[in-house]
Amino acid sequence: MKEFRLSPSILAADFCHLEQDIKDVEAAGAQWLHIDVMDGMFVPSISFGMPVIESIRKCTKIFFDTHLMVNEPIRYIETFAKLGSNGITVHVEACKDVHKTLEKIRECGCRVGLSINPETDVNVLKEYINETDMILIMSVEPGKGGQDYIEESTNRIAEVSRMIKTSGRDIDLEVDGGIHEKNLRTVLDAGANVIVAGSAVFRGDIQANIKKLVKLV
Ligand code: DX5
Ligand code: ZN
Repeated sequence: MKEFRLSPSILAADFCHLEQDIKDVEAAGAQWLHIDVMDGMFVPSISFGMPVIESIRKCTKIFFDTHLMVNEPIRYIETFAKLGSNGITVHVEACKDVHKTLEKIRECGCRVGLSINPETDVNVLKEYINETDMILIMSVEPGKGGQDYIEESTNRIAEVSRMIKTSGRDIDLEVDGGIHEKNLRTVLDAGANVIVAGSAVFRGDIQANIKKLVKLV
């Protein structure tokens, strides 16, 4: 059995009963909750933002793994930290000054995450790796749930996993997009230890879906 953390993405939840969906996620034993914030600029779609996070913080203590798909996220880090995010991940492609942005996340007391899009060279991470607690590899084009896993991501995960080992630091490797029963094992074997899953968790019976995913490995 391989150790990994599951971070279900509420983007795929039913917002009519978000509280119940989150309770199901917790009851099934997921450790984190993945919160996808989209600004309609960095990605075409707009998801949800501050008021939603503020509300759900009141009904759960679960770790909030906030994924900002937002241009110049430095503008919002303090706010998302105050609203209850525990980890904040920004995109290398979205920041004018990545170092400053990561420093700001740390200053605000959150775990520091840095993400790259599928077409971004993994080597850009080298400059920032010592400032991060987590790297997030996008395995779909960011912007919407329910897409197919891009197969080339597996090599990228393995490459970044090696990079993390070389750094000698304790850095989580999260993968986001298109992860289901059939490819979970591959993603973990490549070196990921935090798995985001939207449709695989929220389509159908949430608790049963999570238990099935966890039992697989
Ligand atoms: C995509 C988001 C993902 C997405 C994952 O832009 O960052 O977190 O919700 O959903 P699935 O697992 O359905 O691909
Ligand atoms: Zn995400």
